[in-house]
Amino acid sequence: MRLWFAALFAAVSLCFAAEENSLTSLKDVFKDDFHIGATVNRSQIYGRSPKAVSLLREQFNSITPENVMKWSSIHPEPDEYNFEPADKYASIGAENSMFVVGHTLIWHNQTPDWVFKNADGSEVSREELLKRMKEHIFKAAGRYKGKVHGWDVVNEAIEDNGSLRNTKWREIIGDDYIAKAFEYAHQAAPEAELYYNDYNMYRGKKRKAAAELAKKLQSKGIRIDGIGIQGHWGLSHPPSAEIQKSIDAFSNLGLKVMITELDLTVLPSAWEHRGADISQNYELRNEINPFPNGLPANMHRKLAKRYKQLFVLFSRNSGKLSRITFWGVHDGCSWRNNWPVRGRTDYPLLFNRNCKPKPAFEAVLEAGK
Ligand code: GLA
Repeated sequence: MRLWFAALFAAVSLCFAAEENSLTSLKDVFKDDFHIGATVNRSQIYGRSPKAVSLLREQFNSITPENVMKWSSIHPEPDEYNFEPADKYASIGAENSMFVVGHTLIWHNQTPDWVFKNADGSEVSREELLKRMKEHIFKAAGRYKGKVHGWDVVNEAIEDNGSLRNTKWREIIGDDYIAKAFEYAHQAAPEAELYYNDYNMYRGKKRKAAAELAKKLQSKGIRIDGIGIQGHWGLSHPPSAEIQKSIDAFSNLGLKVMITELDLTVLPSAWEHRGADISQNYELRNEINPFPNGLPANMHRKLAKRYKQLFVLFSRNSGKLSRITFWGVHDGCSWRNNWPVRGRTDYPLLFNRNCKPKPAFEAVLEAGK
């Protein structure tokens, strides 16, 4: 009898020990609410960051490619397509049964100059640019039919003041370039969800313009399924009430709403020092890069509090939000270390540079429970 008890006790303790070792996962905690995603970068795609990739598998059920599906990556020269990294990215999603996002078909950045030019250097006509747009969308979205479940069709087409951004796309084709991109994407990948994605969507004028853009597409019978609100935010900005207004505005149009590029900088604003070489300037370096050797406990607490506040808001809106995607897996691979000033040390995500959970991770789990 005593032996039987000892065996039972050992088995129960083992169970608890195993539970302690494996981290509760974000994707499980929010499984009834929304997908939880992260971006994957080239080194993760090529297996050079195995720790980050196992974290990705353990914690997330959706992925977005950081760069490998952008035009310059997929289609760098007129006659050159390079699908290898994007194919590998899509396979990671398929192998792990993830919701795979394609990012992005039409954008003014990371699109090579040749796209807008004839062989003699002159600007292409509207017809020629539409032809190139259609071909690119058909090749990219068409290739990943059934493998990419949602595409950011157009990225960042609206200015903060609500006007359409003056890009080469708009200049050459006209305002209807957006409608055309959605039409082509629908033809090329009819089962994929189609999104418009932008930053600063919490701002009134931009929110209104994005909603109007979507309404216009809908009124013409052009399919748009969702709007992505990029979440490159900070410790106190933007206010929750403004985020809520944007979620409501887009969801009232019958669209899915996603928080697509979530990361919260903990560093002081450095806009006025853009382009500064901080390695050469000791005082400036300390002022705008205050935590080069680790984040102090009080800052961890601030970040955790802010993440919790946001995830409480997201959970309350789970009927309207279909996905929350972090822009990066861990702090070490975040673009915020290099923007808007190169070479700083930021801590915007839930996992540290060793892929270990930060207090912010626990705070997000708590918000989910
Ligand atoms: C924008 C784009 C992303 C990425 C980030 C910064 O938000 O949508 O693809 O380039 O900027 O990394």
